[in-house]
Amino acid sequence: MIFRQFFDFPSSTYTYLISSGKGREALIIDPVFEKTDQYIQLLKQLELKLVKVIDTHIHADHISGLSDLRDKTKCITLMGEHAPADVVSMTVKDNEAINIENIQLISLYTPGHTDDSYSFVMEDRIFTGDTLLIKGTGRTDFQNGNPYDQYNSLFERILKLPEDTFIYPAHDYKGENVSTIGEEKKYNPRLQVASSQEYANIMNNLNLDDPKLMDIAVPTNKSMGMTLDTQKKLNGISYDNLINIFKKEEFILIDLREESEILKKPSLNNSINIPYSNLQDYINNNKKFLESKKIIFYCAVGERSALAIQICQSYKFKQINHLIGGINNI
Ligand SMILES: [Fe+2]
Repeated sequence: MIFRQFFDFPSSTYTYLISSGKGREALIIDPVFEKTDQYIQLLKQLELKLVKVIDTHIHADHISGLSDLRDKTKCITLMGEHAPADVVSMTVKDNEAINIENIQLISLYTPGHTDDSYSFVMEDRIFTGDTLLIKGTGRTDFQNGNPYDQYNSLFERILKLPEDTFIYPAHDYKGENVSTIGEEKKYNPRLQVASSQEYANIMNNLNLDDPKLMDIAVPTNKSMGMTLDTQKKLNGISYDNLINIFKKEEFILIDLREESEILKKPSLNNSINIPYSNLQDYINNNKKFLESKKIIFYCAVGERSALAIQICQSYKFKQINHLIGGINNI
């Protein structure tokens, strides 16, 4: 397995790159905007294909690299479903699997630092975002943070993992880079409490200054999604338009979502399902057939389908369109 930890000095942020091996699919957690070229260089050197980028929550202290990586690599952006609407192209619920080639992460909804905070478990390790830090925990005084929720996320979820589970947080301010559940239970001063009330008392009396970049970072990170206007410019059509076209002409309708998403919200009638990550292979294997057809793509919020249009622009397809705002907008 390839596992890399990057550090952004100005914001003390850790970013993680994961892949099952050279030449395979990769995933990045909590990328920092200023560092995206560094990640892309390593992806190239290791011949990795970035397919998913995840933010554990809306960050307040740095600009996320999510949309920059999406635009540069056409990868899927992903957050928990409590993230503000349309920030990312795919969302997951609590306890849902996130798959890339030979790697699986399981999402844990761990609110408290913010109300959209998720952690992600992968085999022997957990990415805790700002919920659990090394010998600390993330502050709970903005973005709908709540110390009681955080207490539950810590004591009822994260700390119930095996003691030797590695902890990889989104930040560290003291030069540490990894810990374990066992070490944190014993030595994390914030966790030496007897009740949620005691924990809340600590958190409510931290009296911290707001992060320097907060007024810029939060609104920027909340608008990482591709706008409907941009989606429209990429051969986007409305649902009414799609229905009209469908009545009159023959089209292949392609649902680009993953199986887990289709279970939550079924595909439109007469769709075929080609998950976005498999699209390039599908096109290469069916080029002749597709060249004779008209195609309409759709996905959850219209991002993957807009990226699919960009991918298809290098082929000679008759007519390609995609559904603005995706199936969630119908
Ligand atoms: Fe944070």
